[in-house]
Amino acid sequence: MAKIGFIGMGNMGTAILEGLLKERKPEDMIFTAAHKEKMEAVTARTGVPHAASNRACAEQAEYLILAVKPQYFDAIFAEIREGLRPGQIVISLAPGLTIESLGERLGGDVRVVRAMPNTPALLGEGMTGAAWKEGALTCEEEEEIRSIFTACGRMVRVEERLMDAVGCVSGCSPAFVYMFIEALADGGVKYGLPRKTAYEMAAQAVLGSARMVLETGKHPGQVKDEVCSPGGTTIAGVSALEEGGFRSCVIKAADACYEKSAKIK
Ligand SMILES: NC(=O)c1ccc[n+]([C@@H]2O[C@H](COP(=O)([O-])OP(=O)(O)OC[C@H]3O[C@@H](n4cnc5c(N)ncnc54)[C@H](OP(=O)(O)O)[C@@H]3O)[C@@H](O)[C@H]2O)c1
Repeated sequence: MAKIGFIGMGNMGTAILEGLLKERKPEDMIFTAAHKEKMEAVTARTGVPHAASNRACAEQAEYLILAVKPQYFDAIFAEIREGLRPGQIVISLAPGLTIESLGERLGGDVRVVRAMPNTPALLGEGMTGAAWKEGALTCEEEEEIRSIFTACGRMVRVEERLMDAVGCVSGCSPAFVYMFIEALADGGVKYGLPRKTAYEMAAQAVLGSARMVLETGKHPGQVKDEVCSPGGTTIAGVSALEEGGFRSCVIKAADACYEKSAKIK
């Protein structure tokens, strides 16, 4: 199997690495981070070796995942550019940055994959949208990209122009969902549920409802209708959410994410 290199081992790097470790041997991967102690701790915990430098990591990786914040890209690209092989596959997790601009900044000869995962990847429940240029990858390489991201959840290939939309719906949305869970639990606590029970109930309700949509294939509106008895308690809650602008507020959150990632260059 291909050697997968990570530059950066924070939230996303760790989430993907942990997913891959369920299927691959530690020696099939290599990584760097900014701090030596961090690298030593990750190696001690996972058995995955770290490289002496970002350049050494790039040189040893067949698939190089850039899992650092984009503000560090310029400095890192200056370090690794000379170590990249023509045609090497570099996977960027950064929002906003296009395949074309990343290719130019990396020196032109690499093949760039843009991917937008999310942190539930840590539990094997991630959702990744990914894009690459038509014809850029062989079937085997496409399969390898899929296997990297499906090791930690689901992956869908999209056209590159849709990558900012992917960021809104799955990249950033765990934060929105956590807010919903917290607010729903607050509602339960208001009427007497112990806090811990309220979090468990709210989180399991979200998990179960998500599985209902994914596994039954039913339209979300249909499963919503199915639980709203005429004149019942659930439709009273749905009506209150509509009155509070719930759906338009969620769409506005997507607008804000989209605008923000469109500004990243
Ligand atoms: N977090 C999310 O939910 C999420 C979702 C989708 C996409 N993304 C994208 O994923 C990428 C990584 O985000 P993140 O949340 O994982 O960031 P993060 O938690 O801040 O981790 C960044 C990692 O980069 C390392 N680093 C910083 N400077 C470095 C350098 N010069 N050389 C090597 N490593 C360096 C840090 O090392 P130390 O650990 O030693 O400090 C850290 O391990 C970003 O492009 C982000 O937009 C994140």
